[in-house]
Amino acid sequence: MRNLSAPRKLRLAVLISGGGTNLQAMIDRSHAGTLDAEIVAVLSDRAGAFGLKRAEKANIPAFHVDYAKPVELKTAQRLADLADLDRRQKILKNADPAERLARLAKLVTVEHEILRTLDSFRPDYVCLAGFMRLLTPYFIGRLNAGGPRILNIHPAILPSFPGSHGYEDTFEYGCKWGGVTVHFVDEGEDTGPIIAQAVYPVWPGDDIERVRTRGLSIEYEVYSQVINWLAGGYVAIQKDPNGNTRVEITDPKYAEILARWVQKACTPRE
Ligand code: GRF
Repeated sequence: MRNLSAPRKLRLAVLISGGGTNLQAMIDRSHAGTLDAEIVAVLSDRAGAFGLKRAEKANIPAFHVDYAKPVELKTAQRLADLADLDRRQKILKNADPAERLARLAKLVTVEHEILRTLDSFRPDYVCLAGFMRLLTPYFIGRLNAGGPRILNIHPAILPSFPGSHGYEDTFEYGCKWGGVTVHFVDEGEDTGPIIAQAVYPVWPGDDIERVRTRGLSIEYEVYSQVINWLAGGYVAIQKDPNGNTRVEITDPKYAEILARWVQKACTPRE
């Protein structure tokens, strides 16, 4: 059910690694008053990410977090039980337990720093927008303690084409429709509960760049709509009979919005 009180503007922190066009779309919509949210902080794992410049230009506090910093296993062990994390984690495939622990120690130490920064900005949600790092159950568990609070945008229709090459994989497979997914983040890679998906056609004669451009413009639309649904209280989180988390959008305009996305994706043809 929609909250009867006027929707409160959500506080968003955005994590990026690159160009940050999704971030820019959020900033633009926030300034235009069409996003029911303000971006309170931007963090990047790459010092040179253009998205950091976009944030600074919009006067949004912007931070670089250094994943290359040397890390002490002992320090990390004080932050989290690494052996327990190793049992729960689904992201590191390396067979050598010592190497996994060393990797987890590194990740947890940086994640601790990210969490400290995030805490100081009190975000309602943390939006991943092209953030190219694996997140451990330590980070996810801390943020999701009171319910799912981490969002991700993925450039394919999950569960097809997880990983970091959604557009390339869609195009190379010869799909006639591609799509984008906004989902809550859980402990797997691109496996969290799906909030919204939208599709676009792959036209005869397309190349990967045209496909990516078409897809990205839909990403901006879908991500901001999901944020507005969250702000408006239209995102119902439930458990299905098998105990899986499922999301239902309760906006009465849902069908209308989906139809608009499809129509926009199909016309005009660039
Ligand atoms: C987007 O395609 C997003 O779906 C993926 O990474 C890309 C980020 O692009 N996760 P940008 O940095 O927002 O331009």
